Amino acid sequence: MSDEHSSNDDSDGGVSLLGNSLAIIVPLLMILMLAVTGIAFVGNIEKSKKPEETSANSTGSAPAPAATPAATGSKNAAPDGVDPAAFAAGKTSFALCAACHGMDGKGMKIGTALMAPSLIGSEIVLGDPDKFSLVILKGLKKETADFMGVMAPLGASLDDKQLAGVMTYVRNSFGNSAPAITVETTKKARERFADITMETDPGGVSRLQLDKVLDAHK
Ligand code: HEC
Repeated sequence: MSDEHSSNDDSDGGVSLLGNSLAIIVPLLMILMLAVTGIAFVGNIEKSKKPEETSANSTGSAPAPAATPAATGSKNAAPDGVDPAAFAAGKTSFALCAACHGMDGKGMKIGTALMAPSLIGSEIVLGDPDKFSLVILKGLKKETADFMGVMAPLGASLDDKQLAGVMTYVRNSFGNSAPAITVETTKKARERFADITMETDPGGVSRLQLDKVLDAHK
């Protein structure tokens, strides 16, 4: 008798446990499905927007210039004057960036939304190496809804050599062409910007403050 009781209790417990977890799982699944349809829906809205509407966002993030300078397609070989070993190492480190910027540097697409801007023809990439270092080391504060990703501070993920390599790779891939970056440059940049921390600049440096920050660290 008591055996029966206990087994009844057990199965009761089992049923209510199952009921409880269903009560959690079912709404979760519904939320997930809603999210998926929501994303698809937003994607469709974006698609139906006219190009001039989508490019009407105010700040900097100019539409990517469709493949800019230099030679085409020299994606895998180090260009003249670039150390092949550093270039190859840079390509390996670029996997870290590709999650958002895409293997082709054009920016990873989620539906029609972009995770991150194109690195092709980017003034930050091709210009002052200190500015490029600063963006990678300290990240960019998220101030717009232009991109789904966030340019997080990656200083802790790349040593000076890896940083120089990935910068050299980006500056000489996807049609970009700019002088290689040395380890001395990235080492100095890291030291120079050491006082920029999560306390001083939570979430990264403001895009609008980049030049000011650079000037203050010359
Ligand atoms: C988690 C996503 C993510 C990863 C990983 C990432 N980025 Fe970014 N990156 C972004 C986003 C988003 C922006 C735009 C930030 C903004 O303006 O709000 C950005 C901006 C930039 C810019 C500025 C481009 C311009 O011209 O405006 C550069 C340069 C850059 N990233 C380089 C890199 C490099 C190099 C790596 C790898 C070492 C990297 N990023 C990794 C998301 C990412």
